[in-house]
Amino acid sequence: MSGLDWIFIVFGGILFFILFTHGYAGIIAASWVPTWGKDYGRIIKAFEGLQEGTVIDLGCGGGGVMRVLAREYPKARIIGYEISVPAWLIAQLLNGLLGLRRRCEVRWQNFYNVSLRDADAVYCFLTPMAMKKLKPKFERELKPSTIVISYAFQIHGWEGERLVQDSSVPIFRYILKYQRISK
Ligand SMILES: C[S@@+](CC[C@H](N)C(=O)[O-])C[C@H]1O[C@@H](n2cnc3c(N)ncnc32)[C@H](O)[C@@H]1O
Repeated sequence: MSGLDWIFIVFGGILFFILFTHGYAGIIAASWVPTWGKDYGRIIKAFEGLQEGTVIDLGCGGGGVMRVLAREYPKARIIGYEISVPAWLIAQLLNGLLGLRRRCEVRWQNFYNVSLRDADAVYCFLTPMAMKKLKPKFERELKPSTIVISYAFQIHGWEGERLVQDSSVPIFRYILKYQRISK
């Protein structure tokens, strides 16, 4: 094989991997669809009461919500987990350009495999299937009084607030009452 063949194989492989991570995200939880910018104000309000601590965005996409929260809650530490390489790269780039890389940490990881024990608040915009899968993880790992905000999709079986304005996308706000189920 010539040198050119190898270059095609290596770059083709890298490109395939990048696109694979993007498609895989859609299969295991949700594809990259950003939260509507016009709803940022309502999301900030939904986190009311948060002073400091760790906020986790499960599937942070390009990091738009993370950056808004970082600006609004300057004492909070924001961590976003993202599995899609293109989304992760964009979030890193924008956080860096806007000088927020230290306050907004983006981790290239599958959120189903990370511990949520240190979270004081969690944000998600995923799918009903993902919320169903995350519910037992939340009950196992989140500490009582953690704020959970889910954009568009509720967590069935949990009591919370449904925040709607006119015909806008509903935002579900929960405050953890459960004791951790130790495992
Ligand atoms: C609907 S988008 C929401 C993006 C962002 N949170 C927002 O609201 O603008 C869902 C994101 O979750 C990511 N994702 C899906 N499954 C994931 C997983 N298991 N671990 C990490 N990220 C995941 C997708 O790549 C996608 O960027």
